[in-house]
Amino acid sequence: MTHKRVRKAVIPVAGLGTRVLPGTKVVPKELLNVVDRPILSYVVAEARAAGIEHFVFVTGRSKGAIEDYFDHQVELEAQLAAKKKTAILNELLAELPKAGEMSFVRQMQPHGLGHAVWCARDIIGDEPFAVILPDMVMDAEVSALKQAINAYDEVGGNIIVVEPVPHDQTHQYGVVAVEAKGGRLNKMTGMVEKPAPGTAPSNLIVSGRYILQPEIFELLASQEKGAGGEIQLTDSMFRLMETQGFHALEYDGVTYDCGDKIGLLRANVAMALKHPELGEAARAALTPFFQ
Ligand code: G1P
Repeated sequence: MTHKRVRKAVIPVAGLGTRVLPGTKVVPKELLNVVDRPILSYVVAEARAAGIEHFVFVTGRSKGAIEDYFDHQVELEAQLAAKKKTAILNELLAELPKAGEMSFVRQMQPHGLGHAVWCARDIIGDEPFAVILPDMVMDAEVSALKQAINAYDEVGGNIIVVEPVPHDQTHQYGVVAVEAKGGRLNKMTGMVEKPAPGTAPSNLIVSGRYILQPEIFELLASQEKGAGGEIQLTDSMFRLMETQGFHALEYDGVTYDCGDKIGLLRANVAMALKHPELGEAARAALTPFFQ
């Protein structure tokens, strides 16, 4: 059976980044650097490698720099061209979207992730789509989102990328229950957003990549508040599970939570060490700290 292709991705970027203040006082957290490029650059590259053709950013006030990042910086490009800094100029140009490839909608109120995704409903329309939480930078040989789409091509329905965490951390996340653990792709039987400590159905957390069917929007429209008084995507997914299949995929790769100070540091170290031009120098610079 062939399933309707996943062409569009929703990237919620309206969050204020309070866990990484003061760095995010004036810079959107999605534009914080990991080595030599903003977090969003990694996430968009991951989505492109998965075949995504259209990006819907759900943005908010004081996040205008995100739109600017994905547009020409005319003066800068002219300077780089005049100074014959061709390699970096080409790198900047290669990252630009094609005309019309990105949409920006405003969330306007911080009502939670479910509300943010719902704000993209008109642009997504009636087709399956991906959701990418940009805090989570996923380093994987095969793009994490591509792994999710491969799983979707296999089983259809809805796919949630998950990963195991120590049991004492489950209360910070959405947590899924799966039917029987056999391999990396398992049918889901339940999910709960931020379960009280000791009550989680498993240690598999919702880690920030989803393939969802458009019927989710009808459920999100009810705007019911859940954990933390926010409209939770997890709650609507749980309701959608009554009528549609959900599978959890344990992807093959490493996740860095860049919305957290130590997670951002880990991402910087890891990406610096494997950076094609900077890796060797990064190793030499870091080694003395561990001797
Ligand atoms: C959101 C989701 C949660 C998921 C988490 C991953 O929570 O609601 O299900 O596990 O992202 O980072 P937030 O981090 O916005 O509280």
